[in-house]
Amino acid sequence: MKKFSVAIAGGGSTFTPGIVLMLLDNLDKFPLRKIKFYDNDEERQDTIARACEVILREKAPEIEFLATTDPEEAFTDIDFVMAHIRVGKYAMRELDEKIPLKHGVVGQETCGPGGIAYGMRSIGPVIEILDYMEKYSPEAWMLNYSNPAAIVAEATRKLRPNSKILNICDMPVGIEDHMAKIAGLNSRKEMSVSYYGLNHFGWWKSITDKEGNDLMPKIKEHVRKHGYNADIGPNQHVEASWNDTFVKARDVFAVDPDTLPNTYLKYYLFQDYVVEHSDKEYTRANEVMDGREKFVFGECRKIIENQSTEGCKLEVDDHASYIVDLARAIAYNTHERMLLIVENNGSIENFDKTAMVEIPCIVGSNGPEPLRIGTIPQFQKGLMEQQVSVEKLVVEGWIERSYQKLWQAITLSKTVPSASVAKAILDDLLEANKEFWPEIKRPEVENV
Ligand code: NAD
Ligand code: G6P
Ligand code: MN
Repeated sequence: MKKFSVAIAGGGSTFTPGIVLMLLDNLDKFPLRKIKFYDNDEERQDTIARACEVILREKAPEIEFLATTDPEEAFTDIDFVMAHIRVGKYAMRELDEKIPLKHGVVGQETCGPGGIAYGMRSIGPVIEILDYMEKYSPEAWMLNYSNPAAIVAEATRKLRPNSKILNICDMPVGIEDHMAKIAGLNSRKEMSVSYYGLNHFGWWKSITDKEGNDLMPKIKEHVRKHGYNADIGPNQHVEASWNDTFVKARDVFAVDPDTLPNTYLKYYLFQDYVVEHSDKEYTRANEVMDGREKFVFGECRKIIENQSTEGCKLEVDDHASYIVDLARAIAYNTHERMLLIVENNGSIENFDKTAMVEIPCIVGSNGPEPLRIGTIPQFQKGLMEQQVSVEKLVVEGWIERSYQKLWQAITLSKTVPSASVAKAILDDLLEANKEFWPEIKRPEVENV
């Protein structure tokens, strides 16, 4: 059996140890000969890498391992790049959340103005990593889940149309774990789903079991009362703020009871509620820095000190095994059905052909073959047209260095009440992101 070589871009990520443990748990399905970490923050990556070195030594000493900040070393002799970088790290995530909130607007990592600011930071570095991969390992595939995936996907569609990059998100599979539990199944893999939308902006239109029995009525009945709240045991989305999001899906569902919504729609449909329930001084970024980041780095330091994983509380990120499913689909031509972010190209009949949509695809060695969704209802179409325009304007704004387009993008976001609020937010974001955004051309005549 061929053994694969994988580079993890964003080696210093809080998700890296869980993903390494998950890869080691799946070696029978996806054998590895080499794991390399790449990051541009040597010190941050070093803590994670030195701990993973111990993990590998204990569990799979035959796998070659190295961590580097040198692109040539990182991307030479690679079959897959798994990318999860966060450009600007949590310090910038905090500002993405707090700046819009200061103006009374949703402050979120991937939605609204915060997501736009993050997108403006991510486009260049994600493309840079893609270019390194193509230079040093032209046959490799990049599996990207760096956020904001919607904007990154649109940017790579436009700027690198022929590159082997697949953009994927874990939110639908995370929600499907809850749905499976609600439906009384052992695993989401016992369900067959049809889903459409944009990334962090979509709906399930059918869910059946493998015999074709409709599971929607049972799941809807539960969501009507409890949202997606269901006790599924340890998983990525357990903290109180995530729990609120899963419960709020009840209200999101009420707006369109024909479909089941992605949890992220709360930021667009209940933006006033979200703002009222946000703490302007302590946002999700603070929660993550005080929680996941401290925990993961603390556990890694213990492993390094003891040179052993004994007593270590880091867990296999089992839910991330969808990344292995994706790599396997390409490596072994499994034709697995997966939700991916791909160019619409007619799959959703009554929607922009060039939009990057999240829909079911059959994945094989040549990449994804998107399935046909047909026509979508007016409500979803209207929301998606507005949101996809935001995403496209951000990418145009980045390419053209255009203040005007970024202003339009923020103005068009459903989370923002007016063009004047949009401008005030943009001016603050521009100042805060000087180090990360390309230099933006201001209009010659200031007209507001
Ligand atoms: P993190 O800050 O802990 O890790 C990100 C790492 O990326 C850091 O070590 C940082 O130094 C590195 N980095 C930043 N810019 C880089 C560059 N130009 N080149 C190389 N490395 C760079 O963040 P995290 O919370 O662990 O999340 C990592 C990423 O994964 C984020 O983008 C997050 O949104 C994403 N994510 C996506 C999904 C999904 O469903 N798509 C799920 C979970 C996390
Ligand atoms: C979900 C989304 C990811 C996002 C993550 C944020 O899993 O699909 O795209 O990055 O949530 O989680 P966090 O715990 O960092 O707020
Ligand atoms: Mn996501």
